[in-house]
Amino acid sequence: MKIGIIGAGQIGSALIRLYRKAGHSVKMTNASKVEKLEALESETGAKAVPLNEVVKDVDVLVISVPLIEIPKLAKSLGESISLDTIIIDTTNYYPIRDGRIEEIENGMLESIFVSNQLSRPVIKVYNSILAGSLCQAGLPNGTNSRIALPISGDDKQAKQVVATLLSDSGFDAFDIGNLSDSWRQQPGSPVYCTDLNLSQLRRNIQKAQKEFLPERRELALQFILKQNPALWLEWWRDCVTNNRIVYETDLND
Ligand SMILES: NC(=O)c1ccc[n+]([C@@H]2O[C@H](COP(=O)([O-])OP(=O)(O)OC[C@H]3O[C@@H](n4cnc5c(N)ncnc54)[C@H](OP(=O)(O)O)[C@@H]3O)[C@@H](O)[C@H]2O)c1
Repeated sequence: MKIGIIGAGQIGSALIRLYRKAGHSVKMTNASKVEKLEALESETGAKAVPLNEVVKDVDVLVISVPLIEIPKLAKSLGESISLDTIIIDTTNYYPIRDGRIEEIENGMLESIFVSNQLSRPVIKVYNSILAGSLCQAGLPNGTNSRIALPISGDDKQAKQVVATLLSDSGFDAFDIGNLSDSWRQQPGSPVYCTDLNLSQLRRNIQKAQKEFLPERRELALQFILKQNPALWLEWWRDCVTNNRIVYETDLND
């Protein structure tokens, strides 16, 4: 597949490596100068390009930037994304980083906010896995203990394409429904960054409680705030453990 990736941070760079390893053709861009991506370019063979180039002639466009960047990004992109391109949204809302976004505070789902800003349908996926798990916990297709991730969106065909890509990157897919159901995979849910296999994911997606999401998100965040951000590859497993406790994840198979 031909893939464009906007944002080459923790999640974006992990996806760039995984997609290249699976043999996909990847273009990438960031907020600052593309020269910052030279090392990743020579390591992976993904091509660093400006924003207007990253959306050209791609089957899938992954948007992996802080949520607060989305309105600005949408303005820069205008109508440049082809209607045939599937858009993956990996974003999450964290007021401590993104500031207060009134629409979301008033109940709009995070990926509906993104979709509205872009004026395009999006598929929500990869928002509910820590970058550490994405880098280090993927497994080949067919492995029993493989981590499964929720996918939501309104276009069934697009979700099938995304499920294939997800499997190529080392993870099972579980379609949880339309974008209006995507609150079930937002921060605060028992499936959020808790590294579940398919049967655990199936059960826990039903246990998500919308009214508890923001409160539990803030509670789980307290663990992250105590860690050294530069050492994230050392503490992500403890973060998963903490999330499972705070989000009351049921670990029975
Ligand atoms: N980290 C995780 O474990 C995790 C897990 C699941 C979901 N997420 C979500 O995924 C998204 C990305 O997270 P992350 O941790 O990868 O973030 P990050 O490490 O801070 O990286 C953000 C990337 O986005 C780029 N960027 C920012 N604004 C941009 C713009 N206007 N146009 C183009 N590129 C832009 C940055 O470019 P520069 O490098 O040039 O600044 C950087 O490459 C967030 O919404 C986050 O909540 C994160």
